[in-house]
Amino acid sequence: YNELISDFKNSALYPFLTVWPRLFGTVQDIKDELNQIILPAAAQRILDNLVDMANQVAQTGQQVRIDVSTEPLQSYYTGLTFRGYVDGVSQYIVSGGRYDGLLSSFDGTPMPAVGMAFNIDVLTDVTLNGESNNQDNGKLRIALTKGRVEKDFIPLLESCGVDCEPLRNKARKLIIPLGDAIEVILAKGPDVTTYLKNGVVDLGIVGSDVLDEQDDTSYEMLDLQTGKCQFILASLAGYDPKEGRRQRIGTKYPTITKQYFGAQDVEIIKIEGSVELAPLVGLADAIVDITETGTTLRENNLEIFDWLQKISTRLVANPLALKQKRNTIFKLIDQLSEAINK
Ligand code: PRP
Repeated sequence: YNELISDFKNSALYPFLTVWPRLFGTVQDIKDELNQIILPAAAQRILDNLVDMANQVAQTGQQVRIDVSTEPLQSYYTGLTFRGYVDGVSQYIVSGGRYDGLLSSFDGTPMPAVGMAFNIDVLTDVTLNGESNNQDNGKLRIALTKGRVEKDFIPLLESCGVDCEPLRNKARKLIIPLGDAIEVILAKGPDVTTYLKNGVVDLGIVGSDVLDEQDDTSYEMLDLQTGKCQFILASLAGYDPKEGRRQRIGTKYPTITKQYFGAQDVEIIKIEGSVELAPLVGLADAIVDITETGTTLRENNLEIFDWLQKISTRLVANPLALKQKRNTIFKLIDQLSEAINK
């Protein structure tokens, strides 16, 4: 992010850009972030106004969160937008905002307006099934990808001062409490994002191969710089990637394979593991898979014909958890970044 905003170093709004991704949370969170910077007077007025408004809504007894980091919910909104939630439900109940240009597009009369819509499906669910289906126990719940990702994550978490003995000695347990503040659930990579999307975990630790395959990178918070490997196109010697006939490609990653071949028409054969077998036994002409040390390819006489994108482990957040457990999540992210850069 810092690299991304470095072009704007001379702008009066540069200090704002440095805190922008973290400008959400309670009124106090926003004030704490803004206290670290000096803003141009006009920008300061807008933010003061927003804080005033939030304080007024809070006086009605609602818990208010401000989010300056988000984009407009729909393109027709011209000002403030808002969403309403109930405790423990990750989807919104009500959503709306200010749209001064919308009504004039119906009969030509310009008219400032505020409107909102109720999410009837969620509302019905909450009404019929009780207040909440989320068993939030106040702990930070992390879905961790089992196996190699898990092995690399444990020392990283330990260097943040978290006692990971219960995780090291977990036996066949799938839910592992780490102290009073964290609970880890162990899952397969592709399921980590399912748990996240459904709001039953707050954070996910998952390879970017999984995120790329699911085309889901929206709430990626940190590159843990572990689990580094790379996608490759591989086959037996003599394979011709450009050969005209329709090729059969074995892979665990059909989306990435499709993207890689683009307009070239290939038959994709989905394989769940030991993908290297496919060209060896004549099931596929080549494979798109990941390689770390290159050992599996070498030992099976396979050659690399192309290198695709690099992979590493990422920390992903559930958007609502990020809003609700903002400070706990940012604290962990800051500690992890420090441990990574040591
Ligand atoms: C991955 C990948 C390769 C292997 C590459 O498989 O699909 O098979 O690792 O690693 P290397 O380059 O260090 O030899 P994984 O072990 O995750 O299991 P799988 O074969 O069941 O998919």
